[in-house]
Amino acid sequence: MKKTLVSHSAAQTEQIGELLAALLHRGDVVAFFGGLGAGKTAFVRGLARGLGVAGSVSSPTFSIVNVYPGSPMLCHFDMYRIDGWDDLCTTGFFDYAEDDAVLAVEWSENIEAVLPEHSIFVTIEPGETQTQRIITLEGDERLENFGD
Ligand SMILES: Nc1ncnc2c1ncn2[C@@H]1O[C@H](COP(=O)(O)OP(=O)(O)O)[C@@H](O)[C@H]1O
Ligand SMILES: [Mg+2]
Repeated sequence: MKKTLVSHSAAQTEQIGELLAALLHRGDVVAFFGGLGAGKTAFVRGLARGLGVAGSVSSPTFSIVNVYPGSPMLCHFDMYRIDGWDDLCTTGFFDYAEDDAVLAVEWSENIEAVLPEHSIFVTIEPGETQTQRIITLEGDERLENFGD
């Protein structure tokens, strides 16, 4: 199942993230693709809100992973610097995946080979204006009516 949406602002991208949160279950992986400034963190901010995370969400650029209590718990990864299997293991990616959390993974390009098949793939590309983004979601049948 593949859905393409157009966002016209960071706030709208957050809203789309919040809507997606309603469809997520424990153990889900949301894998983000898209360059610097695409809006991945903005999307995760909305996702977090939708999962009931209180407080602000910032980019895990230096921490690699930020963990937020929510329902379910949210683990927000930045894989920008991750190179290879050993590196990935040290992030706790596999441990958190077993913890029944929702995993949101920025720079999934870097860990593509180990993303579970059941992941929801979110690609954010620049649109025609500075504030336009083309957001493509790919996943299972849950996405069928998403964004309609
Ligand atoms: N439609 C949009 N969706 C998301 N972000 C947008 C949009 N339009 C402009 N922006 C801006 O682009 C930047 C996206 O930053 P961020 O979410 O941190 O990107 P990334 O995590 O992909 O590097 C923010 O400065 C945000 O205000
Ligand atoms: Mg980011």
